[in-house]
Amino acid sequence: MQKFPGFVYNYTMLTLGVLASGRGSNFQSIVDNIESGFLRAKIVVLITDNPDAYALERAKKHNIESIVLKPKDFPDKNTYYAHIADELEKRGVELVILAGFMRVVGKALIDRYRNKIMNIHPALLPSFPGLHGQKQAVDYGVKISGCTVHFVDEGMDTGAIIIQAAVPVYHDDTEETLSERILKQEHKIFPYAIKLYAEGRISVDGRKVIIKGDQKDSLLINPPPAAT
Ligand code: GAR
Repeated sequence: MQKFPGFVYNYTMLTLGVLASGRGSNFQSIVDNIESGFLRAKIVVLITDNPDAYALERAKKHNIESIVLKPKDFPDKNTYYAHIADELEKRGVELVILAGFMRVVGKALIDRYRNKIMNIHPALLPSFPGLHGQKQAVDYGVKISGCTVHFVDEGMDTGAIIIQAAVPVYHDDTEETLSERILKQEHKIFPYAIKLYAEGRISVDGRKVIIKGDQKDSLLINPPPAAT
């Protein structure tokens, strides 16, 4: 059991389902944090919309069941996301993790997992939503950017914010250099947000996410240690 100053939270094993479209480094960081004992959770399924996603290799390596579901094999968006919800529910998934899932999730899934779907976004929302959050930050010329873990609602990256981490943006940054700096923080805050959820420390009041305990736990300017 990980100890935080002043807190020792006991919790049972949380069942996770992960949706990813590509490389899967965030998926890997969650796997690593489970394997290191930082996070008491079990990933029961990886679902991808992309048969070539490297995340599939990672799942195989860690004996995690994976399913490829392509939207074009379904009559419409509603049926697609209802099917994903069925697959998740069938396996007892309690929290859905969007780890680089590059689609706007349909209402059919959101309705069945309201405030139980977390997404990671590579910018400080509500700035720079949508695709290429890092390039948007470089092009705009902001001096600070970062990443956000938020609950998923019907909008594009508009759901209630759980945790953010800030990183500097330098004048000679490119999309690639900034992405690399942000990604390091993503790999810390995503497992940490899941841990807070698993510990029952997260509640949602309208747009606001309240973290039980120390408020600074959601202001990760100096993220706590995680396995990666
Ligand atoms: C991450 O940077 C994640 O924040 C971003 O895609 C990357 C996936 O990397 N997600 C979005 O832009 C969602 N709008 P990964 O596959 O290595 O985890």
